[in-house]
Order: sequence, then structure tokens, then C-alpha cells
Amino acid sequence: MLILGIETSCDETGIALIDTRTGAVAAEAVASQNEIHAPYAGVVPELASRRHLGTLAPMTARALRDAGAEADDVGLVAVARGPGLAGCLLAGVSFAKGFAYALGVPVLGVNHLEAHLYTCVAAGGVEFPAVALIVSGGHTLLALVHEWGRYELLGQTRDDAVGEAYDKVASMLGLPYPGGPVIEARARRASRAVRFPRPLIKSGDLEFSLSGLKTAVRTRLKAGGVSPPAREEVDAIARGFQEAVVEVLRLKTIEGARRARARSVLLAGGVARNEALRAGLEREAAPRGMRVIPSPPRYCTDNGMMIASLARRQMAEGQRDGWDLDIDPGLRLC
Ligand code: KG4
Ligand code: ZN
Repeated sequence: MLILGIETSCDETGIALIDTRTGAVAAEAVASQNEIHAPYAGVVPELASRRHLGTLAPMTARALRDAGAEADDVGLVAVARGPGLAGCLLAGVSFAKGFAYALGVPVLGVNHLEAHLYTCVAAGGVEFPAVALIVSGGHTLLALVHEWGRYELLGQTRDDAVGEAYDKVASMLGLPYPGGPVIEARARRASRAVRFPRPLIKSGDLEFSLSGLKTAVRTRLKAGGVSPPAREEVDAIARGFQEAVVEVLRLKTIEGARRARARSVLLAGGVARNEALRAGLEREAAPRGMRVIPSPPRYCTDNGMMIASLARRQMAEGQRDGWDLDIDPGLRLC
């Protein structure tokens, strides 16, 4: 039997088929919509949900073919029911319910953030309590993980999410969407860094704020007067921005882990792909006897595997939904 995992919470259609018994991936695909949203430097919800509607059925058919399977081999349909963009979630949940109903198999709605986090199990060795940093285009939160399924909020962003700040700063610098990977690449080749403030670094709590940093970048650009700025200045701003972000995330995450006496530090979400963030956390954690367990790079950004994989665990625990399964755009992890 197979579990079909469906992810449509934002601008990626993710489909995966995994083996119910072993969890092995039988087929998977992610259709990115970057080229649709690039001209707007951010996701346009209506365009995103419309695209999901068009891609879900052919991608599922294709995944079944790739797996050498028939629709009848699917024993559970799992879907992200929140948090995310309402129209996008609705496209996925409606498709999941229709597909499951037609096959006469159960449907299970999962939490998108928990699915991001659960990808960290792949590396093995997670010890509880753990502290989790989830950083994506829509979320920035630090949570205490007592065990899978039991979470406690330690801190979150007061304004922009980290990925969102990367995307907005990239746009200011005239760099393409999504901004995270481009800023990381430009920062890597920079020969100097502009010094930016470290927001809330001395606040004493575990809250984050990114909007001030974004403003600092804008002020720097205005002061420079040249638009677009010279290549070398763009690199220096990218590096300075990233250094500020990584330092705040690193110090607050380790402080959270210290307070909670955590042994493992989990890192998930699109921004977890960032090498500077991974390396910075590892450097800080190792001497304190904590182990950083990041999500596998290919499963950091939105995908169907993470949905199927979490559903496999929850199904084994007896969880399933009825046909009244609904989206919850504001669903929280804790
Ligand atoms: O998890 P994700 O695919 O979607 C949401 O659930 O939001 O995360 C996408 C975000 C984007 O903001 C993108 O710029 C950021 O992750 N991102 C990165 C990197 N790769 C993707 N940010 C920093 N460094 C990267 N290498
Ligand atoms: Zn996500």
C-alpha cells in the first residue's frame, strides 16, 4: 500500500507516494511556480491557487506512473490543511478529499509546519527534549519539542518571517525571487560586509523581528544614491544582511536550547537550506554538547514527501479525518 502526500499551502505543488510499511519514496515531484510570481517579487495568492488546480491531477497521475502503481494501490491520502494561503490549501484539500472518496480510502489533514519539522527524523538521532527552529517564507518560530506531536512555543517573529525578509531584501537589491538562494550566493562571493543592526539580540526573550533590518537595508540603499547599486555593494549588503540574520537566529536558538536543556537542535523550513545558518548553528551548538539536526536540503522547501511522511506516523497512531476535513489557514504548531 502507498500513502499519497499532497502539499499546496503556498507556491509549490508537491506530490509524493511513499510505501506505507517502510516509508520509502516510490515517486515524488514538486512543481515550483517561481516564474509565475517572479514579476511580483512575492506570491500572488490567486495565481498560486489557480496553478495548483491545474497541476494536481496530472502530477498525481504522473507520480502513479513513475511508481509503477495504480490508483487502487493508494491506501491513504494525506494533505496539508494549514497553515498557508486559503485558496491554495483549498485546492489541495478538495482534491485530496475527492481522490480519497473516489477510491474509498481515508483522508488525513496534516499541519504543514509539523511536516517541515518531521523531515528532521531522516538524519536520525533526535533526542528529546529538542528545540526546533522553523524558518520559512511564512514562518519564523522557535519551539520546544517534548516529543513528536507535543510542542511548546518559545518565541516567534513579531513582523516578517525570515524567508520573507530574504525575498524583500532581494527585491530591493534588484535580485530575482525567491531571494534566499540568490542572497546566499551573493553573500558567499562578497569581499566585505555592510554592518547592519542585530534586531532584538539583547531583548532577553526569544522573540524575533526582521522589519527593522529590512528598513536598514533600504536606508543604506538610499544613502548610496545609485540605483541599482554597484555589483560589489550588492554583494556587501547581501553578506551583511545574512550575517545579521544568522547571528540573531543562532544566538536565540542556542539560548532557547540552553534554557530547555535540549540535546538536539532541529532546523527546518525553506531557510534551513542556508549553509551559513547551518554552519553557524553547528559551530555554536557543538561545544555545548548539543547536536544540530537539519532537515535534508532537498526537503527543506515545500514538498509532498514531508506530508506523506508525517501522515505515515500519524496513521500508525490511529489518526484519520472524516469528509468534513477543512482547511485552517491560521493553523498553529503550538
Ligand atoms: O518552506 P518554504 O518552501 O515555503 C514556505 O512554507 O514559506 O520556504 C520558502 C522560503 C523563501 O522565502 C526562500 O527565499 C527561502 O525559503 N529560502 C532560503 C534559501 N532557500 C530558500 N533562504 C535563505 N537561504 C536559502 N538558501
Ligand atoms: Zn513551508
